Amino acid sequence: MDAIVITGGKRLEGETHASGAKNAALPILASCLLAEGEHTYRNVPDLADVSTMLKVLRTMGCDAEWSAARHEVKIGVPKNVMPEAPYELVKTMRASVLVLGPLAARHGRARVSMPGGCAIGARPIDQHLKGLKSLGAHIELAEGYVEARAERLEGARIGFDLITVTGTENVMMAAVLARGRTLIENAAREPEVEELARVLNKMGARVSGAGTDLITIEGVDTLKSVDHAIIPDRIESGTLLVAAAITGGDILVKEAVPEHLEALIMKLREAGCTVSTERGGLRCKGPERVGSVDIKTLEHPGFPTDMQAQVMALMSVSSGTSVITENIFENRFMHVAELRRMGADITVDGSVAVVRGQPKLSGAPVMATDLRASASLVLAGLKAEGKTTVSRVYHLDRGYERLEQKLEALGADIKRVKG
Ligand code: EPZ
Repeated sequence: MDAIVITGGKRLEGETHASGAKNAALPILASCLLAEGEHTYRNVPDLADVSTMLKVLRTMGCDAEWSAARHEVKIGVPKNVMPEAPYELVKTMRASVLVLGPLAARHGRARVSMPGGCAIGARPIDQHLKGLKSLGAHIELAEGYVEARAERLEGARIGFDLITVTGTENVMMAAVLARGRTLIENAAREPEVEELARVLNKMGARVSGAGTDLITIEGVDTLKSVDHAIIPDRIESGTLLVAAAITGGDILVKEAVPEHLEALIMKLREAGCTVSTERGGLRCKGPERVGSVDIKTLEHPGFPTDMQAQVMALMSVSSGTSVITENIFENRFMHVAELRRMGADITVDGSVAVVRGQPKLSGAPVMATDLRASASLVLAGLKAEGKTTVSRVYHLDRGYERLEQKLEALGADIKRVKG
């Protein structure tokens, strides 16, 4: 297993760029199942999760041609596909469940392995299934699989009991081919949901209100293939901005979209960073030492849970005490024990962590437990005195495209050690 070795204490500066957004690419790739033909997706990030989604589509009979050099994938979707997503693949990436809506809508049948638990929480899909049932799908759970059947889905009014990103995306993809109108209330407002709606409308769908908590969909009979370039990754962008803040550096992240990161930008400024929009990107200049800020994770446009671990690493070297409350996932403090190994002073009580900033961290061997936790350990390693070795970086590769190379180009002493 690969590891990443960092010798900390370097001030990072220069320009880098944001890759395509993982959490937009995954639902968009699944949406190709809604229309026969050849689809072209550009600015697709070169990530383990993307290759898993392509494997899922290939097992269904799609032809997927990936070019890492061009960050482009061409997918040929046949008239009939094998509407099944196997356990072997879904267990490695729960977002595979995003094929459920498109399969039920266009093929009238879907057999998708139930995603199991995950390091950060139980993460059930009851709201996805509730939405599909409201659209008239007959849902059965058997042998660890969800079976969905429907002649043709019927438009409906769906109110989510809680805000779910992939739940909104799955139901939106099902409703575009349903007969009549669908209303999705208490919908997720994440930029990735808006981006998926943009792609569906380019395919001939009639989705309005994406980005608000009420989405309206007028069903259509057929959709056509699409050619689309995916938005930049706001979480990768945010992670790079925090790299500037934690090293007292100065980094311009080209293509980062300010509107997608308002909550984070506000907190970085509150912590004493200078964040500005420049040359089609975002620039962050970190102070000598950041001040402490309190964070509550919320659904968009609130503070993103996917930035909680990274900002906790930053707060572990702040000049004060910060309170971090995780409201979205019940088990998203796995990075705390590893940060403590580096000298951080953090107390956890349920969903609340109290972080007493320390003047310095010390390098140590640490272990990644999930995607964003691994990013927080890399950031802490950039600041720590001495050498940090982050193991199990396969977690990092699921959502960051060669992060160590981007950081090295900004002046970090960092390298990947092949395992
Ligand atoms: C998406 O996951 C993202 N993944 C996650 O990013 C992100 O953390 C999350 O949204 C929240 O922003 C992708 O887009 C592929 P949810 P998702 O459904 O859709 C509960 C990363 O690091 N819930 O919005 O799975 C659920 O357990 C990943 O890139 C139900 O109870 O998250 C959680 O507590 C990690 N029943 C809360 O809702 C449901 O049917 C929000 O989950 C659905 C969700």
